[in-house]
Amino acid sequence: MSIFFEIHKDIPREGPGLNESTRLAFFMLEDLPSELAVLDIGCGPGMQTIELAKNMNGKITAIDNHKPFLDVLTKSAMEEGVSDKIEVKEGSMFSLDIEKNSFDLVWSEGAISIIGFGEGLKQWREYIKTGGYLVASEISWLRNDIPEEPKRFWEADYPVMKGIIDNIKTIEESGYSPVGHFVLPKRGWWEHYYNPLIERIKMLREKYVGNQEANDELDCAESEIEIYKKYSDYYGYVFYLMKKI
Ligand SMILES: C[S@@+](CC[C@H](N)C(=O)[O-])C[C@H]1O[C@@H](n2cnc3c(N)ncnc32)[C@H](O)[C@@H]1O
Repeated sequence: MSIFFEIHKDIPREGPGLNESTRLAFFMLEDLPSELAVLDIGCGPGMQTIELAKNMNGKITAIDNHKPFLDVLTKSAMEEGVSDKIEVKEGSMFSLDIEKNSFDLVWSEGAISIIGFGEGLKQWREYIKTGGYLVASEISWLRNDIPEEPKRFWEADYPVMKGIIDNIKTIEESGYSPVGHFVLPKRGWWEHYYNPLIERIKMLREKYVGNQEANDELDCAESEIEIYKKYSDYYGYVFYLMKKI
């Protein structure tokens, strides 16, 4: 059985991100209503959900298809005193059981690649009120001169990864006007994501000594980190902010 969820357990985030970047993106959005309806898709353990809740009035519906992550979010929301603003919902981003045109803001950090950037923008647009916003962080090429090694790695893992200009074009072609974008600082990959993952991998190497299948998965997780360590100037997570037109 896959040990994917054993690797991805008890870590603060399930993808690169930083609370300061969540706040930066949120405060770049202009003329939001004072009471917000927000949909956070692929919320994971919800570090960004909690940060949003602390900075707004209204309600966040936080969706993920992995129940243990939602349990972590529920517990943290209680500890942080924002549970009245967050409703967790177990479900798939591929078939959202959600009322159309009902959200001022759709948010998704590190999760839109699961459905595909263009497809996510298209499908999720239906749930946003006209004039409302979508904010998504998406792994993107930051330069044109990509060396062979990261190119090969990401072609195998996420072949539709694009550069910033191409993603902005997709935004414009999908019924939105771009509002802004910025690159997540590099430490957003390490502090709450890769560093805790490295610790998990170390611990699981000891647990799974002699288990080839488990060690292959650990190699896989480790190689993603190694590639980022070497080539972090060439790709990164980019926050894209857009308004539904
Ligand atoms: C890269 S993680 C990002 C999590 C979180 N936003 C963060 O930044 O820590 C992607 C998340 O999408 C969730 N996910 C995967 N497939 C999904 C699906 N079909 N529907 C909803 N969520 C999904 C995973 O469980 C995971 O929590």
